[in-house]
Amino acid sequence: MADHDLSIEPAVAGDLAAIVQLLGRSGLEADGLEQHLDTTLVARRHSQLVASAGLELYGRQALLRSVVVAPQLQGTGLGRRMTGQVLALAQTRGITRVYLLTETAREFFARFGFRLMERADVPVKVQSSQEFSMACANNAVGMWAPLENVLHGFK
Ligand SMILES: CC(C)(COP(=O)(O)OP(=O)(O)OC[C@H]1O[C@@H](n2cnc3c(N)ncnc32)[C@H](O)[C@@H]1OP(=O)(O)O)[C@@H](O)C(=O)NCCC(=O)NCCS
Repeated sequence: MADHDLSIEPAVAGDLAAIVQLLGRSGLEADGLEQHLDTTLVARRHSQLVASAGLELYGRQALLRSVVVAPQLQGTGLGRRMTGQVLALAQTRGITRVYLLTETAREFFARFGFRLMERADVPVKVQSSQEFSMACANNAVGMWAPLENVLHGFK
């Protein structure tokens, strides 16, 4: 997506409410997100927050979460770009494996190399995330990938 008015940058505390609202519009929860803002990216367009993508770090493992694009910009390549950039951030943090939970975007992540897994097989440290304990995650599938397998596909 070529858009000179679009900037992707680290989230700041003042972005939290707008991210929560964006997630809510797509039916996604924001539990615990405030603890991971320093590893969350946001996209702004005309000073409006239009996308996010975040990581929870657990040693060399990360939970990819809060990947969302504003409805009017979905399908324009922004989700791919946000995910690619947050995975590049994961690489700088020494992450080797990435996990995620999703109800609605299984095929989006699968096309870039993420594979389904039993949620019970997700490492215990990653399972301690509030994403795993929240009620609405119950219908979500677990997916994972070695970071090196998916890092370049999103770019
Ligand atoms: C899932 C989401 C982040 C994808 O972002 P996006 O900007 O719409 O997707 P992109 O335009 O970057 O899509 C990249 C490719 O994936 C495809 N794609 C997008 N969403 C898809 C989906 N849900 N299932 C399968 N393929 C999908 C696109 O068609 C595109 O294919 P192409 O490269 O052949 O053209 C976005 O649709 C969204 O916010 N959905 C609601 C929230 C959500 O489900 N988040 C995931 C929670 S973990």
